[in-house]
Amino acid sequence: MRIAVLATDPDLYSNKRLMEAGEQRGHEMVFVSVRNCYMDITANKPEIHYRGGEVLKKFDAIIPRIRPSLTFYGTAVLRQFEMQGSYLLNGPISIGRAQDKLRTMQLLCSKNIAIPRTGFANSPLDTKDMIKTVGGAPIVIKLLEGTQGKGVVLAETEKAAESVINAFKSLKANILVQEFVKESKGVDLRCFVVGDKVVASMERRAAKGEFRANIHLGGTGYKVKITPQERKIAVAAAKVVGLKVCGVDIIRSNHGPLVLEVNASPGLEGVENATEKDIAGMMIEHIEAQVGKKKKSKKVDS
Ligand SMILES: Nc1ncnc2c1ncn2[C@@H]1O[C@H](COP(=O)(O)OP(=O)(O)O)[C@@H](O)[C@H]1O
Ligand SMILES: [Mg+2]
Repeated sequence: MRIAVLATDPDLYSNKRLMEAGEQRGHEMVFVSVRNCYMDITANKPEIHYRGGEVLKKFDAIIPRIRPSLTFYGTAVLRQFEMQGSYLLNGPISIGRAQDKLRTMQLLCSKNIAIPRTGFANSPLDTKDMIKTVGGAPIVIKLLEGTQGKGVVLAETEKAAESVINAFKSLKANILVQEFVKESKGVDLRCFVVGDKVVASMERRAAKGEFRANIHLGGTGYKVKITPQERKIAVAAAKVVGLKVCGVDIIRSNHGPLVLEVNASPGLEGVENATEKDIAGMMIEHIEAQVGKKKKSKKVDS
């Protein structure tokens, strides 16, 4: 097959691993930089041009690894590949949903998947009441489009919470507020979903003095055995957002597992190292199975 990794940085561990895993399985792997693509949007012959003028030949499958800051452009490029009939490992609508934490929370609730108590408000006039609604301080405040823990803040007191919320609002940042799940003690679960299975999971422990377990913030990943209930929740979360490959973040609370978010381009380095699994290979195998199915059903149809 001819497969594109649609991303930004070819030297990133995850992108290198995907290229390598595809080549090992005999596929023609092409790294396509999102930023270098431009489009000819025509009814019967949608084209994608590459910086320098080359017109990209059709791909059998696309592995989108679009960084959040490029979601708007990246999903537009992805739609163009979709119009050409390429199989997309993750689709543009699902990627857009996952990027917005509020939208994700609402989708999860629609399927009764438990999340920490979460609030969202527009006006500073509602700040005080919203803090009360999610159980009062300490609370967690999150940028809707933050990643790698960078947009997640813990406000220890009511006063601090109010100031942070109103400061974010004055900068026109979109935020949600959330009950702080103290008992998780800086530990979360990253469940890696491929298709309708959790293929690997790790426990991440936050660095000393930190409540966010993200690897990018110094957290450490360990192999972990998750419960059947956690497995079920992770798969259900992936499904409601519509992602075929994703990383579902879960924390263990006194009243059971709670989903924090669903990542559309989960990093491979931490989880491959912690679990010693070939996750890049599993992603390629999933494409092989899906594209194979598509071809078969076409033959049957014709
Ligand atoms: N409500 C919460 N209670 C306790 N810890 C939290 C809560 N929300 C987030 N965290 C911690 O912060 C980390 C980052 O939050 P997350 O919602 O996954 O955002 P990001 O997209 O930045 O990773 C989580 O992995 C978890 O360790
Ligand atoms: Mg996260």
